[in-house]
Amino acid sequence: MSVDAHPHTEAFRENADPVAVSPRRSLSPLRSTNKEDWQRHPERARLRIWPEGNWRCDDSMHKSPKPSRWQLSTQLVHAGERLPAVPGLPTVHPISMSNTYVAPPEVMDAILGGAPGYTYGRHHNPTVDALTHAMAALEEGEAALAYASGMAAIHAALTGMDLRPGDALLLSRDLYGASLNLVDQLFRPLGIQAATADLTDLAAAETALSELHPRALLFELISNPLLRILNGPALTELAHRYGARVIVDNTFTTPLLAQPLTYGADMVVHSATKYLGGHGDAIGGILVTRAEFYEPLHGQQKLLGTILGPFEAWLIHRGLKTLDLRFRRQCHNAGKLAAHLADSGRFLAVHYPALPSHPESSRLRTCFPTGEAGAVVTVELDGGKERVFRFLKALELVVPATTIGDVYTLALYPAMASHRSQSPAERQAMGITDGMVRIAVGIEAWEDIAQDILHAAST
Ligand SMILES: Cc1ncc(COP(=O)(O)O)c(C=O)c1O
Repeated sequence: MSVDAHPHTEAFRENADPVAVSPRRSLSPLRSTNKEDWQRHPERARLRIWPEGNWRCDDSMHKSPKPSRWQLSTQLVHAGERLPAVPGLPTVHPISMSNTYVAPPEVMDAILGGAPGYTYGRHHNPTVDALTHAMAALEEGEAALAYASGMAAIHAALTGMDLRPGDALLLSRDLYGASLNLVDQLFRPLGIQAATADLTDLAAAETALSELHPRALLFELISNPLLRILNGPALTELAHRYGARVIVDNTFTTPLLAQPLTYGADMVVHSATKYLGGHGDAIGGILVTRAEFYEPLHGQQKLLGTILGPFEAWLIHRGLKTLDLRFRRQCHNAGKLAAHLADSGRFLAVHYPALPSHPESSRLRTCFPTGEAGAVVTVELDGGKERVFRFLKALELVVPATTIGDVYTLALYPAMASHRSQSPAERQAMGITDGMVRIAVGIEAWEDIAQDILHAAST
């Protein structure tokens, strides 16, 4: 199937919407001629205060706030929540579960023509807007969108590169397994070439860029499960020199370790399922970018219905408020745990970027100025699948489960889970062994986590 015939791509290019008055009409709010009418419309004032909780319906509604003068730790608590201090109004954004919004004909016409406001939950939702405002501020972007999963956000970011048959993508070799599968299974069949390279090596990255001339480069700043560190600013500069756009998956790092848009990356994506939500109870994805990318991405989202649900948006937004406390504690715990496990001599290897044995430990502070190295530690047991199964079954505190970023510590077997779709040869090339276990460190006392892991490793 050619890219032009692909429904997603068509949607993306045309920004058409079946719910709109006419499917051929441009729905770009910024280009709408109805906007001026709406500014004068009597309903506009009434909609400024919404009965459920005072959501602003002015022009700032679908845009991000300006970068704040507050520090990031303060912004995490308040971003997206700054409702006017009107007596009796809630201090926390309510969850708006309504899937549609009362709109008299002129109001509906104005909103569908591009004026700010709410019509239908597949297009916008006030609770989701609060989260996207927060994320745009935290990543210092101009606009953000929230998706039903991290994978949906990554898919959207890639389609946002306006790929055509024959175009190429360059991916970090150590990318999350499902991101590699996404490109393989959804983009390659459309005629998009994709190559992987070891992007920890800037010379290898430059060779791949000069040979492939990709439209975009996609990478994570801390790889999974080997926790290699990529030099985001240098890679971004290099990619732009070769005409490639840059998408950074900031899931493992969070805005606390890196804000890639500030050094020129074009899009940042998150699995909000992980540290942003942080409590193991919501799946979601975030894409933050510059204003120029927003309209086509939002047009695509309206057509596909990939918008995050309001309840999940509320949970993830609530999670943001404690991200600084949780993530910093998790990084602290991970550092202590990694050093303790490495000293124990019970493992073939312990991978953690702050350990002197780590190949990029010397570049840690260049890439992450606080010196924090993330909250995941990977250990290698002496043995294969049977040994790992024995280890996972012997854990009493640490939970065997497939994610990261929760308040409790989790253990995952990459060969069976995150990198299951890669062949043994591919895993070997990536350095992922059959005895490797990834520990996503929680906020418990690190000594208890260490004791549990050492006990399980001795079984
Ligand atoms: C780095 C990274 N990116 C993206 C994803 C996908 O996110 P989700 O599971 O929310 O779709 C994951 C999930 O594990 C991940 O680890």
